[in-house]
Amino acid sequence: MPKITYIAVDATETVLDLPVGTSLMRGALTNDVDGIVGQCGGFAQCATCHVYVDPEDLDRLAPMEEEEDGMLDFTVCARADNSRLGCQVKVTDALDGLVVRLPESQA
Ligand code: FES
Repeated sequence: MPKITYIAVDATETVLDLPVGTSLMRGALTNDVDGIVGQCGGFAQCATCHVYVDPEDLDRLAPMEEEEDGMLDFTVCARADNSRLGCQVKVTDALDGLVVRLPESQA
């Protein structure tokens, strides 16, 4: 299973082996990673699953859809060039070793 690392604002690292096909949001919630809320259940309608992907890893992700792009304008913490919605990023074998950073707040 692909290994995904979540880094909290206080630098706490959580490394998870996630099944292919789950989302970064679902993987975090299932494993009690603080800092991801996922209020809308993964439908790109709340932006409480905002994550920052390490810039060098961005090209390993599928491009974002229009819906995700629009919702990223409503994140609590400032959107950056490497912002993504965790619910819209599906885990694939190509993401093994991916590092995502969690924002200071989601609400
Ligand atoms: Fe609501 Fe991702 S869980 S936008």
